[in-house]
Amino acid sequence: MLTGFSQVAGQALYLDDLFSFFELKPHIVSPPDARPFPSPIRQGFVFEDVGFRYPNGERWAVRHLDFTLKAGEVLALVGENGAGKTTLVKLLARLYDPTEGRILLDGHDLRAYDLDGIRANLGVIFQDFVRYDLTAAENIAVGRMALADDRPRIEAAAARSLADDVVRRLPAGYDQVLGRRFRGAVDLSGGEWQKLAIARAYMRDAQVVILDEPTAALDARAEFEVFQRFKKLILGKTGIIISHRFSSVRMADRILVLVDGTVEASGTHEELLAQHGRYAELFELQAAGYR
Ligand SMILES: Nc1ncnc2c1ncn2[C@@H]1O[C@H](COP(=O)(O)OP(=O)(O)O)[C@@H](O)[C@H]1O
Ligand SMILES: [Mg+2]
Repeated sequence: MLTGFSQVAGQALYLDDLFSFFELKPHIVSPPDARPFPSPIRQGFVFEDVGFRYPNGERWAVRHLDFTLKAGEVLALVGENGAGKTTLVKLLARLYDPTEGRILLDGHDLRAYDLDGIRANLGVIFQDFVRYDLTAAENIAVGRMALADDRPRIEAAAARSLADDVVRRLPAGYDQVLGRRFRGAVDLSGGEWQKLAIARAYMRDAQVVILDEPTAALDARAEFEVFQRFKKLILGKTGIIISHRFSSVRMADRILVLVDGTVEASGTHEELLAQHGRYAELFELQAAGYR
């Protein structure tokens, strides 16, 4: 009995954690009289001297970011690991607010806009996307849960991200449970999971589509196909691609080179090569590997 009591007392401490979790309030909220998200975006995004530190981080993840993402433009971000590429995207999607400086969208601070509007209009696939032990269709539908029963829409998104080929090979097609957890489930290769994850971005009618190294597990040919499609599909929309492969990066209208959390250079592939800077050096390094 005594052991029983002490166990109850011990477990009760965890209840405290649970209730404090319920009491958490989001830091990022819409202002009272929020602006509706512009449709279409007219000018684009402007980063003005943006700096950011993670709440638990002691150093600046990005600092003095000054650049423009014009409406309808596809921008590529290149830089070594830890350069701040993902952080930049998180700020743009307002998953965090800048610690200093500000981000403007069509001339107004991003914080002034309706948060649901931002969420609906930005499709981001992060490098560490989640693999759900659900069906193939559900794994795509998480991009927009309201359309979970809209099979034609899911199939269209799959066709756009080249996931349709992956699904076609599954015994139960779109109803195939994926992962390793359940009996009868089929696990996919890294590249196959990625194609499903990319389909999530196409589930939204997003005006801005961002792929953050979504292709790390894809081979060179598959990545080339995915990005070429991406470029075609988002025609007229605004996009960001993050990749370490120059064959993908050079498809962008403009390239930003990030070093230690700040933009070191920007321009087209040809312009950056002509500058003989870090971009040219990295390009040569990679090209040499293929010779
Ligand atoms: N959740 C986090 N908490 C604290 N620091 C982080 C977090 N995520 C990233 N960082 C730090 O921010 C810097 C930029 O990281 P990141 O934006 O992920 O770079 P990249 O995507 O270019 O590899 C790195 O120094 C990294 O360690
Ligand atoms: Mg990253």
